[in-house]
Amino acid sequence: MTRTGLLLVSLVVAACGGTDDVVRGAPERGKALFESPSSSRNTANVHSCATCHTTSSLDTRRLAGATLAGVVARPSFWGGAQRDLLGSTNDCLRYFMLDATGMTADEARAKDLYAYLESLPQEVPGAVPFTVVGDILDLPGGDAARGAGSYAALCSSCHGKATTGEGRIVGAARLPDDTRAEHLIEGPEGLRKIVIEKVRHGAFLGYSGRMPPFSAEVLSDAELADIVAFLGF
Ligand code: HEC
Ligand code: HEC
Repeated sequence: MTRTGLLLVSLVVAACGGTDDVVRGAPERGKALFESPSSSRNTANVHSCATCHTTSSLDTRRLAGATLAGVVARPSFWGGAQRDLLGSTNDCLRYFMLDATGMTADEARAKDLYAYLESLPQEVPGAVPFTVVGDILDLPGGDAARGAGSYAALCSSCHGKATTGEGRIVGAARLPDDTRAEHLIEGPEGLRKIVIEKVRHGAFLGYSGRMPPFSAEVLSDAELADIVAFLGF
């Protein structure tokens, strides 16, 4: 296309911007929603999508959810448990963001979020493995020093510093003290199991709350054993 042609197209698109936006959604608005707790209709929610998902391979943080760079092209979601992108997102809104109803496809926030996800680099277009560790077994003793690094990488973004809880998000337990106090009756082995189970199941499989589950791909048993040792359970 010639330069004048291109210019004309962009002028026409700009002129129709108002209505076009409503139909297609706008990536900039989607990005703002993605990074804010306000993508949930529940004002008590403190998580944003960005709490648990990266949007580019340049972001090397290890989060519980898969990177969403390429998600619109994936054939399935949630480790094959979901076939539908909207359904997958609604799982997150319901289970992790206190939004009981989730979104319908024709809502503005659904369109804006989709436009943003579509605008991301299509880096991981294939299904992302997500293996839920169902049966909870006690783990062999880990290395507390290594566990400190893993805790900082995987847990501190929500739980803050260990012991003090400094910097934690609203509602996240102060580790290890809150958990120890709450489940004192369980004894040392029971407490270890509670921590392992919470990390593996998050808000699912008999647990409630808003914490995401950590899959076998994101966190190995050996690394989890290190975190448990670091927390002193
Ligand atoms: C508290 C953490 C958390 C929050 C907040 C969260 N998610 Fe998720 N999300 C997960 C986990 C865990 C999974 C399941 C593992 C996976 O497949 O990524 C998941 C899965 C997904 C999937 C399927 C990805 C795939 O390839 O399987 C999509 C899409 C998604 N989330 C979108 C969103 C959007 C959009 C938001 C914000 C409205 C959001 N999530 C908020 C943790 C979260
Ligand atoms: C996205 C935020 C987030 C991340 C990341 C996260 N947690 Fe949590 N966690 C929470 C929230 C919120 C709660 C309290 C609500 C609930 O039970 O889900 C919680 C609760 C807990 C509890 C308390 C269980 C109980 O019954 O007392 C433990 C133990 C725990 N988390 C361990 C961890 C460990 C270990 C990691 C890192 C591997 C981790 N969490 C990562 C948000 C998070």
